[in-house]
Amino acid sequence: MKIVVLNGSPRVGNTSATVNAFADGAKEAGHEVEILHVGKKKINGCLACEYCHMKGEGKCVQKDDMDKVYPAYAEAEMLVFASPIYYGSMTAQLTAAIQRMYAVGKPAKASKAALLLNSGLGKEYKGPIATYRDMISAMGIEDAGVCSVSAADCASEEKLAEIRTFAKGL
Ligand SMILES: Cc1cc2nc3c(=O)[nH]c(=O)nc-3n(C[C@H](O)[C@H](O)[C@H](O)COP(=O)(O)O)c2cc1C
Repeated sequence: MKIVVLNGSPRVGNTSATVNAFADGAKEAGHEVEILHVGKKKINGCLACEYCHMKGEGKCVQKDDMDKVYPAYAEAEMLVFASPIYYGSMTAQLTAAIQRMYAVGKPAKASKAALLLNSGLGKEYKGPIATYRDMISAMGIEDAGVCSVSAADCASEEKLAEIRTFAKGL
């Protein structure tokens, strides 16, 4: 299965540690994994201009780093959304990348998704989890699971092994 991971952190830190553990587990199980560090890309918010639906035949009018995300989105059989928690939400960068998928609508091949959240407190943030569930339901994708990890957990080999095991079991 081709798995595309969107890492919404603006830096290489705790979220990258969880993404790498997930990718290691998935690769061990024979999956192909592509990580797109969307938090480090230049991705504008959706303009709601409707060019994509009226004239663009699914192509966005904006020219920015989403050009690198759309092809992966089309090829993905599983989508993984990874983000640090900023004031109870996913990052603005990941949110922009998700909302720009409006141009395409439902992904061509993806049938499942997962969410990896990383926060200082490590608690289950209900807001972004509800947003993720609404989004994948609109895309017609099944939820394979949600991992909420604390920043401190990222230094714990036991926690990273748990994430690898989750990915191996997909
Ligand atoms: C702007 C900002 C807001 C944050 N808000 C929260 C928060 O609401 N709850 C929380 O537990 N941690 C919060 N944090 C901490 C980060 O979620 C945490 O350090 C995370 O591990 C960072 O991931 P990263 O290393 O991939 O950047 C915040 C950090 C920043 C920079």
